[in-house]
Amino acid sequence: MRTDLQKELGLPTPIVQAPMAGGATPPGFILACMRLGLLGSLGAAYLSPDVLKAQVEEIAAASAAPLNINLFLPCGRPPAPGVVEGMLDHLAPLHVAAGLPAPALPDPAEQDFAAQLTMLRRLRPRVASFVFGCPDAGMVAALKADGILVIGAATRLDEARLVAASGVDAIVAQGGEAGAHRATFIGGFEEGLVPLRSLLPQMVAALDIPVIAAGGLMTGEDIRAALEAGAALAQVGTALLRADECGIPQAHKDALGRAAGEGAETMLIRHWSGRAARGLANGFTRGLDAAGIAIPPFPLQNAMTQALRGHGRKTGDADLLALWCGTGYSGARAAPLADIVSRLVAEAGFPSQNH
Ligand SMILES: Cc1cc2nc3c(=O)[nH]c(=O)nc-3n(C[C@H](O)[C@H](O)[C@H](O)COP(=O)(O)O)c2cc1C
Repeated sequence: MRTDLQKELGLPTPIVQAPMAGGATPPGFILACMRLGLLGSLGAAYLSPDVLKAQVEEIAAASAAPLNINLFLPCGRPPAPGVVEGMLDHLAPLHVAAGLPAPALPDPAEQDFAAQLTMLRRLRPRVASFVFGCPDAGMVAALKADGILVIGAATRLDEARLVAASGVDAIVAQGGEAGAHRATFIGGFEEGLVPLRSLLPQMVAALDIPVIAAGGLMTGEDIRAALEAGAALAQVGTALLRADECGIPQAHKDALGRAAGEGAETMLIRHWSGRAARGLANGFTRGLDAAGIAIPPFPLQNAMTQALRGHGRKTGDADLLALWCGTGYSGARAAPLADIVSRLVAEAGFPSQNH
């Protein structure tokens, strides 16, 4: 079972290591995924052009395998009056408790997308992928002219048709099960929670470009079923989160294990970034719910909660971490990456890799 996109990219295995911005995908993790035959993906949304360059050069120095660089398309909108100030008031006592300076809205609140894109084009990865909107057709054409394979993302069929019309080479079908930020850009986030088993066949039937399945693929059987339903590749995020090599904090990995034992369910969380993302509730999200105040939109809230999340990472406090994960998180194994991937490959019945 070798798909055309797999052949085009020269991938030993039809699995994409999901891009996961925010520190989950350090170069060592991506290289380990590449060695195991996956398409390695750098979640570069929060990286400055210089750090992006350094990380890509580190990866390229160690592997000639194809690399996917992933960016967020700009999607910010202005906050309602008073919302930022209200959030700073809410965050102030949390900063005092953590021994942090008073909260502030960093300026700028996000990386400069144009500068990231310029660097991406200089670095010329084999693949570039974009989420949070419909890529601009001119940008897609320019990247393709550079020899870069371009991937978009959608959570519903109307989004998928628009993204396909931009000229992308392939598209991620992000099922409602998927961990972290939703790619939704039409309608409300709740309306974009189509399960992968419905979304994938819809997109495969309606589009004439390869569709990459994402969301809730936790076992090799899940991956195989997605390919049999017409997916060109299977993208896995949550299944790799508790791997030793994954860059999320140990407290995040441990929290997933504890929550699985308690049978906790994931939910859509806007609290950390201002944009709906799937993960687990914790002390921070419950405190904000209790306060009942409005949350500033992405990327403002993301920028304002950065210091607290950094503190959570440093101190191992899971109440101060964005506990992103997909609905299948209880199936995420705490193990070396090679063990996790070789089990997925064996369960799927793919030929094993000996790198
Ligand atoms: C911690 C985490 C961070 C993520 N960050 C990104 C990202 O930066 N860009 C992106 O396109 N998708 C991101 N995703 C979504 C994945 O690309 C993918 O859609 C999802 O992980 C698939 O569902 P699963 O988590 O159930 O495997 C992230 C997922 C997780 C779990």
